Amino acid sequence: PNAKPIAADLRAAMLQDPGFGRVFTDHMVVIEWNEAKGWHDARVEARGPLSIDPACAVLHYAQEIFEGLKAYRVPSGDVVLFRPDANARRFNESAERMAMPSLPEDTFVEALEQLIRIDRDWIPEGEGSLYLRPFMFGSETFLGVKPSAEYKFIVIASSVGAYFKGGKPGISVWLSEHYTRAARGGTGAAKCGGNYASSLIAQKEAIGHGCDQVVFLDAVEQRWVEELGGMNTFFVMDDGSLVTPPLGGTILPGITRDSLLTLARAGGITVREERYAIDQWLEDARSGRLREAFACGTAAVITPIVEVRGQTHNFTIGNGGPGIETMRLRDALTAIQRGTAPDPHGWVRPV
Ligand code: COI
Repeated sequence: PNAKPIAADLRAAMLQDPGFGRVFTDHMVVIEWNEAKGWHDARVEARGPLSIDPACAVLHYAQEIFEGLKAYRVPSGDVVLFRPDANARRFNESAERMAMPSLPEDTFVEALEQLIRIDRDWIPEGEGSLYLRPFMFGSETFLGVKPSAEYKFIVIASSVGAYFKGGKPGISVWLSEHYTRAARGGTGAAKCGGNYASSLIAQKEAIGHGCDQVVFLDAVEQRWVEELGGMNTFFVMDDGSLVTPPLGGTILPGITRDSLLTLARAGGITVREERYAIDQWLEDARSGRLREAFACGTAAVITPIVEVRGQTHNFTIGNGGPGIETMRLRDALTAIQRGTAPDPHGWVRPV
């Protein structure tokens, strides 16, 4: 806990090679909600431990949602956020699914901005960024199963580099043939902690087999590729077109996913949001019809998938290295985010 701001020289050392999710800034934003007052008591305070009752609702029934987005230092020295309005919207969609109160979008964005302004020295130089983690949880002290009557909305920030250790040039994925992530009518499209908790056993299996991420199939036919443990997937075909699984309630509607669909379409690339079967993936990788595949998300940015492994499926994609189209898309997106290319879609918001 950073009860006192960390000294500049220590901070500089912490920003040398921050990795992902271990280095935190000095402050946090807290806003409270209850039925009588609605949202109230908004404040920026020193980052530190929370004191919650052991009967706090979230500890028992997991009524919790979160977001992830990044702030970047652009060449002029200014700081920008990437599509915070899209995160604010998705946060409220998650809140609705989890029977939680909605937060005005401008309050969500202002909370981010206030935290970034006070902690802007924590944005690493170069490739790094400041990862913002807004979240909300049911904070009522009560064991009955019902929507909490009290909530806390908190934003913390973490100085980050690459999500995968050592900035891996390509990842291997393990096909989960036993566990699924989400079913129709479930919480698959909500960014709630429980989705990630339920992915962990499959992710552990992936790591146990020497892979970086788990890949889940649909829960009905166990046939269609859905998403990885914490990121969406894209396939690059030999005619240059892109395929990505369609949103339909079981897939997290990624903002990186959405941005790539827009960028690709604007660049004249054919994009199909359609189901892609695991057997097709294998066949296309073998025949060469599939050239590349990649994972995308705020944390992962765009990371090539170079190998698929499982009980019955083992194959390499392309030449086993990062694909040209994948890296082209990655460069196009990160150039907009980092202010080194024009922003035709109005995604970048100065703080
Ligand atoms: C993100 O990409 O921001 C996420 O929330 C996913 C998680 C793997 C960190």
